[in-house]
Parts: sequence; C-alpha cells; structure tokens
Amino acid sequence: MRPAAETACAGPAAGCPTARIADIDEDAVRLLVHTFYGRIRDDDLLGPVFRQALEGRWDMHLEKMVAFWCSIVLGAKRYRGNVTQAHQPFSHLSGTHFSRWLSLFFDTLDKLFEPQAAFAFAEPAIRIAESLQLNLFGWEYTLPPAQRTLLDSIRHRRPAREHD
Ligand code: HEM
Repeated sequence: MRPAAETACAGPAAGCPTARIADIDEDAVRLLVHTFYGRIRDDDLLGPVFRQALEGRWDMHLEKMVAFWCSIVLGAKRYRGNVTQAHQPFSHLSGTHFSRWLSLFFDTLDKLFEPQAAFAFAEPAIRIAESLQLNLFGWEYTLPPAQRTLLDSIRHRRPAREHD
C-alpha cells in the first residue's frame, strides 16, 4: 500500500490528501472496507438498515467484503457468494438508499485513493449498484438523477487508454 507521496502527515485515514494511496493491495482494500462501513454504520439513512441486518455479524461481513473487493480489484478469486441473492431482502428500500451508498463510497474513495486507484473500485461499484436496483425494483426502474450524475462523473474519470 504505497502512498503517492511520502509526507509527515498522519495518513489517508486522517484525511490527509497528500498521502492518498496509488497502489492497491490487500491492506488498502481492508482500509477502504473498514472506513466505508464505519461511515455506513453512522449514517442516518443506511445505518439502521445495516445494523438490523448485521447485528452480531459485522466482523463476518467486513471479511466477506474484503474478499469481494480483493476479487474485483486484485483478481484474487477469494469471494464466493451471490451478490444479487444477498440483496433480495431489501426490495423495500429505494433508489435514495443506493444513491447514499454510492455517494458515501465515492467520497471514501476520494479521501483514500489517487484517482486512478479510486476508479478501479468506483466503476464496478456503480455497475453492480445499477444491476442490483434493476433486479430489486424492476426493469422499468430508472436511476435517480444523483446516480446518473455519478455515472457521468465516472465516465469522465475513465483513465485514457492508448487508442483513446
Ligand atoms: C443501499 C444499498 C445497499 C444495501 C442497503 C446493502 C446491504 C447489504 C447487507 C445488509 C448485506 C449483508 C447481507 C447478509 O449477510 O445478510 C450486504 C451484503 C453484500 N453487499 Fe450490499 N448493500 C447495498 C449495496 C451494495 C452494492 C452497491 C454492492 C456492490 C458494489 C454491494 C455488495 C455486497 C456484497 C458483495 C455483499 C456480500 C454478499 C454475500 O453474502 O455473499 N452492496 N449488503
């Protein structure tokens, strides 16, 4: 987990922007997962949903999410599960819940990671969030404007490829 710039500051968890992470490894994933779900727990909208579902099972959830993100960004093949099925009990939620999840996730990414590393998480997150919502709310469902704005911002952040 090499910070982009070595400085005397207290590090990304302390909100120091000059020490954002450039290279993703398991420690970086762990930091992201723990920081993000710490914010989820404290959130007025999502906190109660997660606390009710995960009472007494937070440690297991955090380990599962570390495995999930390691599989996605590091190709670790550690996550074995069914994301769609795990969210079936949440059809009573709404697009607003997903918009909040995504805005907390993106904000955490911005605080911890350099833009290119943040993109490695952000792009799959918004794609999976869209698919979960279509699954839960039906194929007629359209993304709320807040999420469309996030989608657009992601498109603009896509790192340039050689043939672009
Ligand atoms: C409002 C949005 C969301 C809510 C309320 C939510 C809630 C939850 C809860 C409560 C669990 C634990 C289920 C259990 O073990 O009983 C869970 C699992 C999980 N969530 Fe979400 N989630 C949301 C969005 C997302 C998104 C956008 C992603 C992916 C980027 C995601 C990925 C996962 C994964 C990988 C698991 C583990 C599934 C398994 O058990 O194998 N979630 N979610």
